[in-house]
Amino acid sequence: MAFTIAIDGPAAAGKGTISRAVALHFGFAHLDTGLLYRATGRRTLDGTDPVEAALTLRPEDLDAEDLRSPDVAQAASRVAAIPEVRQALLDYQRAFASRAGGAVLDGRDIGTVICPDADVKLFVTASDDVRARRRHKELCEKGHDVSFLEVLEDLRQRDARDSARAAAPLKPASDAITLDTSSMSIDEAVDQAIESIQTAL
Ligand code: C5P
Repeated sequence: MAFTIAIDGPAAAGKGTISRAVALHFGFAHLDTGLLYRATGRRTLDGTDPVEAALTLRPEDLDAEDLRSPDVAQAASRVAAIPEVRQALLDYQRAFASRAGGAVLDGRDIGTVICPDADVKLFVTASDDVRARRRHKELCEKGHDVSFLEVLEDLRQRDARDSARAAAPLKPASDAITLDTSSMSIDEAVDQAIESIQTAL
């Protein structure tokens, strides 16, 4: 039987790092579902219609170079509010979740909409300040010329849009375990996540 772990939370809370480490620990496949929205959003920057962009998304679009940029993040959050875009990306995510051997999916609506029956659900969060610091460091290391305040503003805007939208808003599933990583190192957050999952198994 397929085993599914759903990891949701706001932008830059540490979901990606935790999900990759959890997948490695349990030997499961990992899908960063934000990449699907980022790749879709990026294509709309060239003038492609959002629904068309989602329906015709190709695997190589997920490898595009600037998917991590703040502009693409904003475009992702805008297209993610369109129900037809979410619908177009649904089957791929569900198929991934049900693959044999286990899967970890991270995003905003994995525990609520994509995999409401996931075996374990985590909601990873951290204060705005901590999240912006982490993302700012990450972007600077990748060579993006962006200020701390711009990063903070980007995260706040996206979280507000992601939480307020009618279609699959960002919120913890009622049966999710919340992990606040504000005062944890990345290693501590990963250890806590693995412990929570093991306890829940
Ligand atoms: O996780 P990441 O920051 O890469 O996601 C980019 C954007 O994609 C989010 O701000 C959100 O609007 C959207 N997203 C979503 N549902 C998901 C994953 C991401 O709406 N499952």
